[in-house]
Amino acid sequence: MIESILIVILSFIPAMIANSLAVVFGGGPPIDGGKKLKGKRILGDGKTWRGLFGGGSSATMVGIVLYFLLRPFISLYPDLPLGLIPILSLSFGALLGDIGGSFIKRRMGKKRGAKSPIIDQYDFVVGSFILTFIVSHGWFADTYFDFPGILGTIVIMLVLPLLHRGVNIIGYKLGLKKEPW
Ligand code: CTP
Ligand code: MG
Repeated sequence: MIESILIVILSFIPAMIANSLAVVFGGGPPIDGGKKLKGKRILGDGKTWRGLFGGGSSATMVGIVLYFLLRPFISLYPDLPLGLIPILSLSFGALLGDIGGSFIKRRMGKKRGAKSPIIDQYDFVVGSFILTFIVSHGWFADTYFDFPGILGTIVIMLVLPLLHRGVNIIGYKLGLKKEPW
């Protein structure tokens, strides 16, 4: 029981790390190439290729290390070839969700970095979930929606805004992020 709840919580680490490391690796050419849609930037300068691939691949590596460290203790993990798929989809899905969030923010007329409750805290979870559901729906359903994993999913959803805020305040204090949200 504790094990399945724990695995849900641990499985969010790559997604959280992907977002934080995108800030570290970010910069350079924006994904939207500076293009606009109806007078507003498609994504804005805050979404870059370096952030996407730097953040995504380093979070994947952290996920793999975590996988090997926890493998002896957690029987729910599938073998690595299968385990690698959710690790990749959670990491890159987080950043794709974050890109989706920025797309919505720009359509709402919000400038890069503008605060946007709900979207800022949940875009990356939605992205992680959607991509993981697409590439690995068996693992997705077993891990997040079967009892007792669902309890972990609910807990994570509730503490996520706090966690997200905490990580961003640290990034801000370290001078990595322009805003503390
Ligand atoms: N970042 C990046 N590429 C990504 C995601 C993030 O380069 N794919 C970097 C950018 O430097 C960005 C910072 O990480 O400014 C913080 O990310 P985030 O808060 O998601 O972006 P914002 O600048 O707040 O822009 P937006 O309003 O579009 O969310
Ligand atoms: Mg932001």
